[in-house]
Amino acid sequence: MLIDARSPPTGILCSLDFMPTLSRSLALMTKDTEQTRQSPDSLITLLDAADRLPGAGELRAHSYDLLGVGPGRTAVDVGCGAGRAVAELAERGVKAIGVDPSERMIAVSRGRWPEADFRIAEAYELPLADASVDGYRADKVFHELAEPERALGEARRVLGSGGRIVLLGQDWDTIVIDSDEPDLTRTIVHARADLTAGPRAARQYRNLLLDTGFDDVTVEVHTGVFTGPAVLPLLAGLAQAVRLTGAVTNEQTDTWIADQRTRAESDRLFLALPMFVAAATAPR
Ligand SMILES: C[S@@+](CC[C@H](N)C(=O)[O-])C[C@H]1O[C@@H](n2cnc3c(N)ncnc32)[C@H](O)[C@@H]1O
Repeated sequence: MLIDARSPPTGILCSLDFMPTLSRSLALMTKDTEQTRQSPDSLITLLDAADRLPGAGELRAHSYDLLGVGPGRTAVDVGCGAGRAVAELAERGVKAIGVDPSERMIAVSRGRWPEADFRIAEAYELPLADASVDGYRADKVFHELAEPERALGEARRVLGSGGRIVLLGQDWDTIVIDSDEPDLTRTIVHARADLTAGPRAARQYRNLLLDTGFDDVTVEVHTGVFTGPAVLPLLAGLAQAVRLTGAVTNEQTDTWIADQRTRAESDRLFLALPMFVAAATAPR
């Protein structure tokens, strides 16, 4: 699937309004989880806007299809954020449970979908009995986990025999940006990736699932392609977050952002964001 944010389908032009928020969030998110948790409302605004991006709804629906849970079956969405996937699974008749360690995320989820089941917990200690769910889903979560193997061990514990797991997320080391200064771009992308706990979690999904004993492991990559000026705040946010680490100078940051602005003005900006989607089955 290719997603071009420059010419989104009619009716979703507002989908790029989230870019300034995304930029601020990128600047805020660091390995220090306390800092990340200081801005849950900013993250919620970002996630809402990301959910409206062209192709986002289809990708979520595809993840539900990969889970393979139908009416009456049970699924847990780990790191559920503001709870949209839990609500969408419930619309399919699934007994869906949303889990997130953020009290604010769970409060917002409960406010939006009062009928749904939301619980405060970490991926490492799910409030679920052994073999009690048919599906486990985690969307844009594993890059936040310092111990992904431990989280997958917990997934194995709660999934019943033949249960399905689906992991989605971007690989922070694989943000593709055309630039007049490719070496500087590489420095910015990699330094920004290193601000997350698991920058390469997405490319590791397959091996992590295999190492945890899952069967039938599959991986797909769905790439969003962005060529318009609306993503300039995102690119500036990347560079500014890295500037704060000292990995690039103020002058390098300004020059790099100016290049991207010139590209946007002349229709030469190019950003590709691959989203990894892995699925597997718990041993029968
Ligand atoms: C980028 S958000 C994604 C939210 C949601 N899955 C979505 O796609 O909109 C990451 C979420 O992971 C949660 N999270 C962070 N650390 C976690 C942990 N150790 N266990 C479970 N969830 C965690 C955060 O609170 C946040 O809601």
